[in-house]
Amino acid sequence: MTRNTAEYWTNSHPSWNADNPLICCHITQETHDVKSFYFKPEKFASFQFLPGQFITLELSINGEIIHRSYTVSSSPARSHTISITVKRQPNGIVSNWLHDHLKVGDHLAVLPIAGDFSCSLHISSNAAKQYLFLSGGSGITPLMSMSRSFHDLAENKDIVFIHSARTPEDIIFRKELDLIAFNQPNFRAAFICEKADAAWTQPTGYLNIDLLKQIAPDFLQREIFTCGPSPYMAAVRNMFKIADFNMVHYHEESFNFDEMSAHLDTDADATAKPNSPVINGAGFSVDLTKSGAIISCAADQFVLNAAHSAGFRLPSACSKGLCGTCKSKLISGTVDMKHNGGIRPREIEQGLFLPCCSKPLSNLVVER
Ligand code: FES
Repeated sequence: MTRNTAEYWTNSHPSWNADNPLICCHITQETHDVKSFYFKPEKFASFQFLPGQFITLELSINGEIIHRSYTVSSSPARSHTISITVKRQPNGIVSNWLHDHLKVGDHLAVLPIAGDFSCSLHISSNAAKQYLFLSGGSGITPLMSMSRSFHDLAENKDIVFIHSARTPEDIIFRKELDLIAFNQPNFRAAFICEKADAAWTQPTGYLNIDLLKQIAPDFLQREIFTCGPSPYMAAVRNMFKIADFNMVHYHEESFNFDEMSAHLDTDADATAKPNSPVINGAGFSVDLTKSGAIISCAADQFVLNAAHSAGFRLPSACSKGLCGTCKSKLISGTVDMKHNGGIRPREIEQGLFLPCCSKPLSNLVVER
């Protein structure tokens, strides 16, 4: 869609909301298996979010509605467009569909922007001065949004950004990070590759405390933000604990959307037939009224997992009680819900709950 550009500079800017679908307006091939997708709102509006937050796409793939969350990679300071950066996952239904089918001009339904992993939410005396950003693979996206934001605002923050990738060809945003470092003297980007040929002059292997001390000798004074695959984050966390880092100043993306999604792409039993009652194993019963099925859920099992195991693909994205995608009406019964902000107290009072982070305390009837 082409707009009169004067509209951007002369109109007042209503904030984007989720009733306003997005149009894919640009696609960039970042690496051999990573693309960035840029979106504009269908009706004129600007995006308001914090760098590091995520967006949840609602996609219709093979006749099925699938929700999937991706961290925003663009800067909120460029508020007329928003981008996500997606790596193809082996067997990933959504990532492969986006790479193979989404094209410029396509319209998408999207849920509100959410999340609490942002340097804008953790302002301490340290944070205001010095940051250490650590990312692995496609975990670079929230930290890229933060770096782009500081760059766009000409903040010239003291940031050391260390990104780990498999090979030099797998480094996402390498040129742009070098450009930010060129423009902002207090920004330093370093890359570590698991494997590289002789032309590679930066470190090879994995991030460890010795490498960290070489690249950021003052890391103990920095506010740290980390995002990457679970093994990477576990290793980083462990490294800082051993180094006696004050973990109050350590923040990590609490989950990796791509990883979380991978099991949702493959777990559901495609042979289960909705509308045929299913009861499997022992546990509480969960009556899914719209599906016409009664499934079993163990006391220590999340309701969403039980539904997926029985072949019912309820809407979900984060599986951690963050995004609100799985919100459902609990018609009767009680659950033990441990959410992470994906549901408001008012909604709980109205009888809604999040099956992804709720375990049954009784038999349940759920409007799904
Ligand atoms: S799937 Fe995100 S809150 Fe349940």
